[in-house]
Amino acid sequence: TYVVTDNCIRCKYTDCVDVCPVDCFHEGPNFLVIDPAECIDCSLCVPECPVDAIYAEGDLPDEFADFIKINADLAGRWPVIAASQEPLPEAERWAEVEGKRQFLEL
Ligand code: SF4
Ligand code: F3S
Repeated sequence: TYVVTDNCIRCKYTDCVDVCPVDCFHEGPNFLVIDPAECIDCSLCVPECPVDAIYAEGDLPDEFADFIKINADLAGRWPVIAASQEPLPEAERWAEVEGKRQFLEL
């Protein structure tokens, strides 16, 4: 499966959503997650993300290992998002920031 990680937080560009053939992205207040039960591993979403937030589970850097569970858990709580929308208002500023996990809103 593919996993959305830290860089998406407070940006939420949503370009990834438009290319997903199975609509497996779910939307929270300032982050998106992928439902691992629905993702078909097509990898189309990876190059769409302007901040490179999406990884194949097998390529996930160690520092992001906990995002496997975060994606799985939140996919069960958040609604599906099937079309892109405007990024969050301060997306450009937050795109430069690393270590944004503390800002993840549930
Ligand atoms: Fe959707 Fe494919 Fe990305 Fe999985 S890898 S989330 S199926 S676009
Ligand atoms: Fe997030 Fe990148 Fe998609 S910022 S919403 S994973 S395009």
